[in-house]
Amino acid sequence: MCGIIGYIGSKDARDLIISGLKKLEYRGYDSAGIALINGDTKVFKCAGRVKELEEKVNKSGFNGTTGMGHTRWATHGEPNETNAHPQVSYKGNFIVVHNGIIENYSQIKKHLQSRGIVFSSQTDTEVLANLIEHLYLEGDLSAEQAITMALNRVEGAYGLVIICTSETDRLFAARKGSPLVIGVGDGENFIASDATPIVEHTKRVIYLNDNDLAIIKKDELILRTIKAESIKPEVKELELKLGEIDKEGYPHFMLKEIFEQPKAIHNTFRGRVLPDFSGIRLGGLHEILDSVTEAERIIIIACGTSWHAGLLGEYIFEEYTRIPVEVEYASEFRYRNPIIKKGDIVIAISQSGETADTLAAIKLARAKGAKVLGICNVVGSSIPRETDAGVYTHAGPEIGVASTKAFTSQVTVLAMMAFVLGHRRGIISDEGYKALITELVAIPGKIEKALEANDKALELAKIFQNTRNALYLGRGYLFPVALEGALKLKEISYVHAEGYPAAEMKHGPIALIDENMPIVVVATRDDTYDKIISNIQEIKARKGIVIAIVTEGDEIIAKMADYVLEVPETLPTFSGLLAVIPLQLLSYHIAVLRGCDVDQPRNLAKSVTVE
Ligand code: AGP
Repeated sequence: MCGIIGYIGSKDARDLIISGLKKLEYRGYDSAGIALINGDTKVFKCAGRVKELEEKVNKSGFNGTTGMGHTRWATHGEPNETNAHPQVSYKGNFIVVHNGIIENYSQIKKHLQSRGIVFSSQTDTEVLANLIEHLYLEGDLSAEQAITMALNRVEGAYGLVIICTSETDRLFAARKGSPLVIGVGDGENFIASDATPIVEHTKRVIYLNDNDLAIIKKDELILRTIKAESIKPEVKELELKLGEIDKEGYPHFMLKEIFEQPKAIHNTFRGRVLPDFSGIRLGGLHEILDSVTEAERIIIIACGTSWHAGLLGEYIFEEYTRIPVEVEYASEFRYRNPIIKKGDIVIAISQSGETADTLAAIKLARAKGAKVLGICNVVGSSIPRETDAGVYTHAGPEIGVASTKAFTSQVTVLAMMAFVLGHRRGIISDEGYKALITELVAIPGKIEKALEANDKALELAKIFQNTRNALYLGRGYLFPVALEGALKLKEISYVHAEGYPAAEMKHGPIALIDENMPIVVVATRDDTYDKIISNIQEIKARKGIVIAIVTEGDEIIAKMADYVLEVPETLPTFSGLLAVIPLQLLSYHIAVLRGCDVDQPRNLAKSVTVE
């Protein structure tokens, strides 16, 4: 997903914007650019890292006190300098950076080309810049009028910052579907895709809503809709702290976030578990708790790792609430005209709160009459604004593209939801409720213990760093963990890995077993333990290599497997929260040994805000 940072004030815009772009690198990108205003306006771009852009713009010596920067995650047009942003309109009056997709760009492009307008890039963004220019010149309009008119003609999603070279005392910003946040300073203002590059400068923010247009001067903010209706800006206080967005001595954000999980899980239940462990209070559900308690069906929608958390949630919900649960990929759900019945509850899970497919699925579910709950990690993101109610995971900012603490905090929220509903439905007794809560509260300490497997995980990573593929197997609560472990390995080390229900092995994957491919079996003690032992025996009988994730002290599997990674004993319900830790560590170390860009894996974005 692209990153945007804009500044208008009296400070050195160049270094401030470059530093802001570096804080946005975690979003994933393939090219970068900056526009600076100082009398005239200059644009610098490069198909590469922000560091290269920094060298280029520093070498020019050009600077100013107003400007904007962009990191591009290519959608239309390959990642090269021409397609990098900012995009400049054909007469140079408008300079645009954009996050999102203009869906009707080709029709607009054809229309403009028929008027003799020439394009230099393959981007949809240049089409928007030229449309604004065309309206500005043809209609002899002000910049604001031309921008407003253009935005009423485009379809699709955008987060935009626009400079008009003849009105350089202001930046224009507009949002529809791709987040933008204004940082409100004293005699200066900021605009960015998220709060990460703003928090060091100001904690006062204004989240733009869809169809908002902001005119941002250094000492004035004007907010309107693209229908020219005035809006009173609502200034909020940022919860984010600067310390939360640096590595604090870790080599990568991902490793920091793996080790943050004890604290993250503690923060997820802190203030929600009653001091005597007799109950859980999820304030965000309060409004619709009765309808959720009486739900006839729960549909969980999510993508990627959040979908794995949802699948684990299915097992937990069905065990403790006896409400039927279905887990859907948001990208499938949104296009298959799903059947939603009255009494259905939809739960949308998203770390970023900005995933386009999940947002679209939410809108569809609500249009069909479902009540929708959100489980998100980013306060003020789009999904919490689109749902009827919800619960924040409070895991703290997750910068590494590979999701780790978000997964375990999502599962924690799902477990708490299930326990609250199960107790209200009379399925969980008071004693059972208290016992579950007592074990939940012990989980951070048990994750701390599970993290002690880090050195062993590194040893195994050295052995398997050159593997060309891997199979991850699990049963019951541990099947979603196997899927998550496989996703972690493939997305950061580029090794093909797949997760499978262990019992499914004999229906195909058993043919893959050879003496080279590592098979990770998630085999902590639960009621399918004897079955997973048979699966390990089947693998060993075919000379397969087994890495087993086991409950500490398990001597049975230790004798059978080639390698074991231990996690503390816990209730099967919480086993996923512990078993995933060694899988995160193993994939992290393999990726580092393979020289991969762990925090910004190739082709990936931290939040997929486009389809
Ligand atoms: C997980 O490691 C990936 N980064 C990806 O699958 C991610 O979980 C998915 O894109 C969903 O993102 P979200 O939770 O922000 O909606």
